[in-house]
Amino acid sequence: MTDLIETMLPAIEIELQKQVSRLDVPRTKAFHDMLTYHMGWTGEGAGTVATGKRIRPLLVLLITAASGNEIGNPPGGSWEPALPAAAAVELIHNFSLVHDDIQDNSEKRRGRPTLWIKWGMPQAINAGDGLFVLSNLAATELISTYSSEKVIRAIQILQNTCLELTRGQYLDMSYEKRSDLGVEDYWPMISAKTAALLSCCCALGALLGGADEPTIDAYRSFGHYLGLAFQVQDDILGIWGNEAITGKSIASDLVEGKKSLPVLVGIGKKGRFADRWAQGPIKADEVQEIAKLLASEGGYAYTHEMAKQMTDMAINSLREADPQGAAGDALRDLTDKMIRRES
Ligand code: IPE
Ligand code: IPE
Ligand code: MG
Ligand code: MG
Repeated sequence: MTDLIETMLPAIEIELQKQVSRLDVPRTKAFHDMLTYHMGWTGEGAGTVATGKRIRPLLVLLITAASGNEIGNPPGGSWEPALPAAAAVELIHNFSLVHDDIQDNSEKRRGRPTLWIKWGMPQAINAGDGLFVLSNLAATELISTYSSEKVIRAIQILQNTCLELTRGQYLDMSYEKRSDLGVEDYWPMISAKTAALLSCCCALGALLGGADEPTIDAYRSFGHYLGLAFQVQDDILGIWGNEAITGKSIASDLVEGKKSLPVLVGIGKKGRFADRWAQGPIKADEVQEIAKLLASEGGYAYTHEMAKQMTDMAINSLREADPQGAAGDALRDLTDKMIRRES
């Protein structure tokens, strides 16, 4: 990890804690506890694994620092004013995870029981709503440094991203029940559910760093392809990953009937995997065998190749954005780690 990232990570935690403390009020202490549990700060297993990787706020801050060219915001310059935006994107991410774990019937996240497992679905839905509102309030705090015009634009980017996210989740869930889908249906779904937020982080960082419009566009495109590569890798880890490292159950994507990329490839091959898939839900005790079968029919190799292609596109866009200084080096380093990740 670079020195700059090591400096940013604790600052991100402090900002997030400050934002979440809006709900640290009398009578509803147990509600605040749910949020601090989900954020990884309290409860059994609290710590760096339980907080998640904080990739999205890091992207905002690194790009703010790497793209600055306005007066008072020089290249490789200050990233602290963008902290409320960094908190906002991480809160959006976490709200979406709390709801996603209900939608996906997932019992484990970041190595710990999910919120709905611990507190029940109705309370978990409400906690997710709380995180969503906290993200909106965090973004409004940009006003202490930036012009109202810029803050409105940042908020529009954030809210449009949330709409994309809900569209993506709609597609993801509606695909579970459909048998008429091919690989081409996959990209719009992950573009909305995952890449939209990563793209938003990169565009916001550039906007707040004072980048010009073509540079903001290049960063937006970098985030988009990085997001696609990231989700493709998530799909690989969701079938062939190591549960102890991912902190999520590897059975769940196959058992839930998720149309992940490897599954769509397998269906398209019309071989033994497709035959088994057509017969109805995969059971937990078949998962290992089915994962092997899917790999033997090319599901792994194709998906891996797609991850590589999306990564190359991301790297091309990043080159175009031309991040500067130590933040630029840290950004290239982070991109590399994200793409090779195992958790
Ligand atoms: C998980 O995202 C959800 C996806 C979009 C694949 P991350 O892998 O960034 O999750 P955390 O925050 O580090 O746990
Ligand atoms: C990722 O969803 C995107 C969102 C949470 C909106 P997934 O369902 O694919 O991600 P994991 O595997 O649960 O983290
Ligand atoms: Mg999901
Ligand atoms: Mg999920």
